[in-house]
Amino acid sequence: MKFFIDTANIEEIKTAVAMGVLDGVTTNPSLAAREAAPYKEILGEICRIVPGPVSAEVLSTDAKGMLAEAEELVKIADNVVIKIPTIAEGLVAIKALAEDGIKVNATLVFSSMQALLVAKAGAAYVSPFVGRLDDISTDGMQLIEDIITIYHQYNFNTEVLVASVRHPMHVQQAALMGADVVTMPFKVIDQLIKHPLTDIGLEKFIADYKKAGKN
Ligand code: G3P
Repeated sequence: MKFFIDTANIEEIKTAVAMGVLDGVTTNPSLAAREAAPYKEILGEICRIVPGPVSAEVLSTDAKGMLAEAEELVKIADNVVIKIPTIAEGLVAIKALAEDGIKVNATLVFSSMQALLVAKAGAAYVSPFVGRLDDISTDGMQLIEDIITIYHQYNFNTEVLVASVRHPMHVQQAALMGADVVTMPFKVIDQLIKHPLTDIGLEKFIADYKKAGKN
């Protein structure tokens, strides 16, 4: 399972790269708005740091506008993936971009039928938002299972990218289900490595060694 980081923060990305776990990056307008530098500048820097796919989202809501934005975004670097919202106009844009060999990440997916449509249109990635479904008392991870089942049934190549991840259990369940990618905030990557018994054990190893006078 590939690990993407869901952030536009350069320091977090650099830290995850140094940890050796990062396969790609997803950004969105809300994440970009938290950073001081302009979006395209940030994307350029991210693409220099991370060789894997970097999702850059369009802001237009009509296909023509989405395609015009995509044309500019792909100039940033070869590893830019265009993030398109899953609406009817988005399908038109996904089809056109896929036909041009441009990778698309279909975002804001909340149902298996939306996932089926974006796969048919040619999206390289589908991003179901599990945390936001959980927020409205709907099982986000059930959606992942449904999408995986449907995609396997028809041999779609679209990768299932679990998004809106809020905690380590989302990541564990995604791995058990065989999701292709999970994108998560830095906080979740950090939570994944932590275990209290590791910390207690490490403290004891060091204390025992020092107690024996080995300094
Ligand atoms: O990858 C999508 C993500 O950025 C949305 O996450 O936590 O705002 O629902 P969240």
